[in-house]
Amino acid sequence: PVDGVGRSHGKAILIGEHAVVYGAAAIALPVPSVEAIAQVELLPAGETSRLTSRLHSGTFATLPAELTPVAAAVHAAATAVGLDPDRIHLRIGSQVPIGRGMGSSAAVAAAVVEAVADAAGAQLTAEVRHELIQTSERVAHGNPSGLDARTVVSDQPVRFLQRRPQGSVPVARPTSFVIADSGVSASTAVAVATVRARREAAPQVVDAVIEELSALVDPVAAALGSGDMTGLGAGMTRAHELLREIGVSSPVLDDLVEGALAAGSPGAKLTGSGGGGCVLALAASPQAADDLALALHAAGAPRTWTMTLAPRKGDA
Ligand code: MEV
Repeated sequence: PVDGVGRSHGKAILIGEHAVVYGAAAIALPVPSVEAIAQVELLPAGETSRLTSRLHSGTFATLPAELTPVAAAVHAAATAVGLDPDRIHLRIGSQVPIGRGMGSSAAVAAAVVEAVADAAGAQLTAEVRHELIQTSERVAHGNPSGLDARTVVSDQPVRFLQRRPQGSVPVARPTSFVIADSGVSASTAVAVATVRARREAAPQVVDAVIEELSALVDPVAAALGSGDMTGLGAGMTRAHELLREIGVSSPVLDDLVEGALAAGSPGAKLTGSGGGGCVLALAASPQAADDLALALHAAGAPRTWTMTLAPRKGDA
């Protein structure tokens, strides 16, 4: 029996990853085709809470370390809605790849929080839901900005400033992107700690990069809002160079960015915390996206996802 269901999806950061942790501006995009689903069954007295998922099937007491953020999400959400966290059977299915900068931890936490609330018949406000997802994200990677937690439950691009959402981002015309997997997993906690250590060692260098990343957000938003693919791409490629300067790119990610640009992409960058993970490449037009995906496979990506941002009524 299923008492509660929750869904969410992946995300890609268009501009401002890492800088957003320090309160700088950033924009992230929902990736609706890559879903996470959670189901909750409320167990009768005498049974023990358990998880059924690809990574682990068994009681919460025997959960492997990488799933402790899931336990944190269940515990926080159940407590918030007045359910006994020890009487929950949770099932999770997620298409969001783990450790690839696509928000897998936030997406799973969001689906779990929604499923638990649904099982209790509770309606969470956006703020409460965000805090519950963030409780899990803090376990997953320390000092999350909240950008992932917002974007995995949004159907629109999310703009952030000072670690708060900041209104919508209009899109002038259908804008397609290809996300290319580097095939390498990386830890967000490690990447965020790397930047923090660099900033302690060389505050002026890292703060200048954070400032320039933040300053790219208005021009990138304006380019999206006017359909200026050249300007949008230029901002993305510059962001990649800046992220490389603070040590979160890798030779594989640099190769994928170069492969995209060589194939006619107006701009490309690593997306998410880096170290491994994915590259986000802008397609010159929606019709050019398939060729760009093929070029990224040829450049070494084991898999790609294509997505198109569409203008909402009133945007164009
Ligand atoms: C991770 O997807 C994005 C980072 O900016 C971390 C965060 O925002 O918490 C690297």
